[in-house]
Amino acid sequence: KILILDFGSQYTQLIARRIREIGVYCEIYSCECSAAEVANFAPNGIILSGGPETVTSADTPRAPQIVFELGVPVLGICYGMQTMAEQLGGKVESSNHREFGYAQIRARGHSKLLNGIEDHLSPEGFGLLDVWMSHGDRVSVLPEGFSLIASSEGAPIAGIANEAQGFYAVQFHPEVTHTHQGGRILSRFVLDICGCEALWTAGHIINDSIQAVRAKVGSDAVILGLSGGVDSSVVAALLHKAIGTQLTCVFVDTGLLRLHEGDQVMAIFAEHLGVKVIRVNAESRYLAALAGVSDPEQKRKVIGNLFVDIFDEEAAKLTDARWLAQGTIYPDVIESAGAKSGKAHLIKSHHNVGGLPENMTLKLVEPLRELFKDEVRKIGLELGLPAEMVFRHPFPGPGLGVRILGEVKKSYADLLRQADAIFIEELYRHDLYHKVSQAFAVFLPVKSVGVMGDGRRYDYVIAIRAVETIDFMTARWAHLPYEFLDLISRRIINEVAGISRVTYDISGKPPATIEWE
Ligand code: XMP
Repeated sequence: KILILDFGSQYTQLIARRIREIGVYCEIYSCECSAAEVANFAPNGIILSGGPETVTSADTPRAPQIVFELGVPVLGICYGMQTMAEQLGGKVESSNHREFGYAQIRARGHSKLLNGIEDHLSPEGFGLLDVWMSHGDRVSVLPEGFSLIASSEGAPIAGIANEAQGFYAVQFHPEVTHTHQGGRILSRFVLDICGCEALWTAGHIINDSIQAVRAKVGSDAVILGLSGGVDSSVVAALLHKAIGTQLTCVFVDTGLLRLHEGDQVMAIFAEHLGVKVIRVNAESRYLAALAGVSDPEQKRKVIGNLFVDIFDEEAAKLTDARWLAQGTIYPDVIESAGAKSGKAHLIKSHHNVGGLPENMTLKLVEPLRELFKDEVRKIGLELGLPAEMVFRHPFPGPGLGVRILGEVKKSYADLLRQADAIFIEELYRHDLYHKVSQAFAVFLPVKSVGVMGDGRRYDYVIAIRAVETIDFMTARWAHLPYEFLDLISRRIINEVAGISRVTYDISGKPPATIEWE
């Protein structure tokens, strides 16, 4: 397994994902972790990430010295290269030549890291690589025992190695896809140089998790709030496989779900997989609680609190439950750790199903805590969940509650469900669903005039939203084909009685959010 020490780069999670994709388990620790923590992890290799600081200043982070004393290979990336060079006796200088974006590097010598990996050959027969650079500082003097393994115009020392000790460092970012051979370079490091085996596959992850869950909960009963979203669904399937009938899922049908969603969740889990699921039909309670509430924040609170109440009521009936299972995944863990240490640049609050019941006496079991979303999806498929569920767009915890502007009414929710289902169905049919990151309809409780046949209509408006994004923190509106939008508009207006106008949302995030409330 590989340890990644994080110096604050925006790409650190990407390094971890690449290593996991290669099939090798890895974890991210803060660069401020102790020598004992590094030693206890017992890595087969260590990667030092990039970071925003400069090693030319004395009070910036360094790797714990033990990294260079454990006798395992180390790969420094960008800032990681600079701190390695500096800590081992080389020199780093601030250069006024900032290099950002594509660069071409020439491999030198025959290092184990880069040998035979190239995008092009130079006329003289040297390997050339197209890489992604993002740095101001650069190494100016090699530490003793190191030799040059790559150079570029902006960074004459773009890669160094002390092969006897297994120390390698590169100024460019092999973890980003712009570095075309990045995957091969990382896999060269973890498989060939560190000697890790590619055992971290879906089947392996499932077996490991099953053993861990069984060891943890023994013969105790476990409850899980099942929302139908990817994470809680995979937890349900995994726990069912691990502990069978010791698991009870509580599925709260809020009445704010998408068309037929409640029935689909029951069909997959209760009928198909044989999971014990208690479906709580709470539509009327939600509608009653939301009556007269139109402030968006207030609506979120009402929906979240009611979820906790209902979940508590159901949990209280399961008197032998000792454990609460949750679908926390690795990025949530990293984000909240980063938030605590003040290092996180992006902070997102996670209350997928409304938060934990207060005064909880249940202990937590979080089997996906070490997994990235793509790994969660992979094991979901392996566990037999349908691909449509595993690759479904995200859906907010408060559901249609934040897609009906202002006060929520059942008649509005019913119209919205129909319009949304038409939009999603056509996205699938035109092979566009997976080309956008999230797509949905929004109900606007305003009436506008229309004509239909000989009559005039005075009906509601549906807004269509589709965005492309990687991290959901920023997004651009999807440039769906006009003909497609035309079809959606015609189908919704013709088929959903009560809607006379359809608009397409062309706002980016920022400044607009993805959801309308
Ligand atoms: P915004 O609207 O903030 O949304 O741009 C970003 C992403 O988060 C989802 N979202 C939520 N997810 N509970 C959730 O679990 C919520 O309260 C919530 N609000 C927004 C939204 O669908 C988008 O994917």
